[in-house]
Amino acid sequence: MSKPTIAVIGGTGAEGSGLAMRWAAAGYPVVIGSRSTEKAVTVSTELAARLPDGSVPLTGLANLAAAEAADIVVLSVPYSSQAGIIDQIATGCHDKIFVTVAVPLKPPKVAVVWQPPGGSAALEAKAQLGDDVQVVAAFQNISAAHLQDLDWEPDSDVLVTGDSKAAKAQVIDLANAAGFFGIDAGPLTNSSVVEGLTAVLIGINMRNKVKGAGIRITGIPRPE
Ligand SMILES: NC(=O)c1ccc[n+]([C@@H]2O[C@H](COP(=O)([O-])OP(=O)(O)OC[C@H]3O[C@@H](n4cnc5c(N)ncnc54)[C@H](OP(=O)(O)O)[C@@H]3O)[C@@H](O)[C@H]2O)c1
Repeated sequence: MSKPTIAVIGGTGAEGSGLAMRWAAAGYPVVIGSRSTEKAVTVSTELAARLPDGSVPLTGLANLAAAEAADIVVLSVPYSSQAGIIDQIATGCHDKIFVTVAVPLKPPKVAVVWQPPGGSAALEAKAQLGDDVQVVAAFQNISAAHLQDLDWEPDSDVLVTGDSKAAKAQVIDLANAAGFFGIDAGPLTNSSVVEGLTAVLIGINMRNKVKGAGIRITGIPRPE
């Protein structure tokens, strides 16, 4: 079966570009979305040059065109711009899986858990997009520093929350394709805890002077 096309909205940034490269290296067609078509094309060319032989070429489009071109839309922009960007791409997301990686943080206290008014960034995205979009939250606990290092072998897990088991299964496949162990972490309302864990990890990073503390779940079977 052919692999779904993934749009990474904000794929010009730290987190999204790391995910985009990992999926392209795993054989997924990936479209980088940006507010600027020119930036999308430039960054997709730069990222493609970093990929191993045999990867699927990356392409770049403006955000809405990228969402329209994709089967799965991944939003990787700062929480503060999430609602505005969703407004711009919503028509390209109907009947699709929409993955948010956003972590709401309240600067300057980025190591303190902060819940936005809607309970979580993912719940706010779902409320904005409506019921014909399958919103799934994932990758919030994976640092961009790790994603960017294609030689790094993931030792942390991706907690995947959402209200559709089928959509979560597809996102777990994406987590596994990117080299992680994807785990169904329950309904989308649980995204509030998963997002909050990132603030906890940021504090752990600061106190231990590291860049990529992560989460690993014990006690469940995993592939050898
Ligand atoms: N960085 C991490 O380690 C990490 C870890 C876990 C989760 N996350 C989450 O991943 C998401 C992206 O993080 P990031 O570090 O990749 O962010 P980033 O590099 O600052 O921004 C990502 C992209 O979002 C777009 N963007 C930036 N500011 C914007 C604004 N004011 N309005 C509209 N679009 C804007 C830009 O794309 P264009 O200019 O091309 O439009 C930018 O390249 C965030 O929600 C973050 O919480 C990050």
